Amino acid sequence: MENQAAEVTINQVKLRIIQGDLTQQDTDAIVNAANPSLMGGGGVDGAIHQAGGPAILEECKQIVSRQGRLPTGKAVITTGGNLKARYVIHTVGPIWHGGNKGEPELLASAYQESLKLAADNSLTSLSFPSISTGAYGYPVSVAAKVAISAVITFLQQSTTSLKKVVFVLFDPQTFKAYSSALNEVTRQGNQRG
Ligand code: APR
Repeated sequence: MENQAAEVTINQVKLRIIQGDLTQQDTDAIVNAANPSLMGGGGVDGAIHQAGGPAILEECKQIVSRQGRLPTGKAVITTGGNLKARYVIHTVGPIWHGGNKGEPELLASAYQESLKLAADNSLTSLSFPSISTGAYGYPVSVAAKVAISAVITFLQQSTTSLKKVVFVLFDPQTFKAYSSALNEVTRQGNQRG
């Protein structure tokens, strides 16, 4: 049975958790879990370049020649190429080294820098994958709490053009981790009042 989507509204912005394929999302921008070279890779990075076509890589090459490799936690924006999404925001999540090498802060930054860039471009909708929990080895349940908290904190603290932010999770286990993280973070929030 398809997992039920979860949704909350934060500061007039709808935050949704769904299971699906990020490359199929009809949204202003999707976020790519890239690597510093921006030259593509496997996982969601590979899927986005595959579905979006060469125009995305072309712009990535221009960015890297202009400003060098993309540091972990930072974000850049390119065309969405053949995707339904108009733009791709590329960010680099941290590689998991046990959790005491600044991974939580860098993961939160990857989400918040992507949200900031979407707002700077007056976008109204944005979809995220589960950054760093594939090849980069970040444990999903730990990453989900960091990701959900980072997005909620950003939406609570800023009034932007954004109206909808969606986590698009590729498998049931990841979907479950993010929907329980959403329940936990919003329950804590309510208790804080
Ligand atoms: N839609 C949504 N999520 C997807 C898709 C897709 N089409 N394809 C993969 N995913 C999910 C994975 O299942 C995982 O939950 O994206 C999440 C992130 O996994 P990775 O893509 O491996 O990203 P990450 O862990 O951040 O590693 C980044 O991998 O692909 C390379 O170039 C990339 O070097 C970089 C590294």
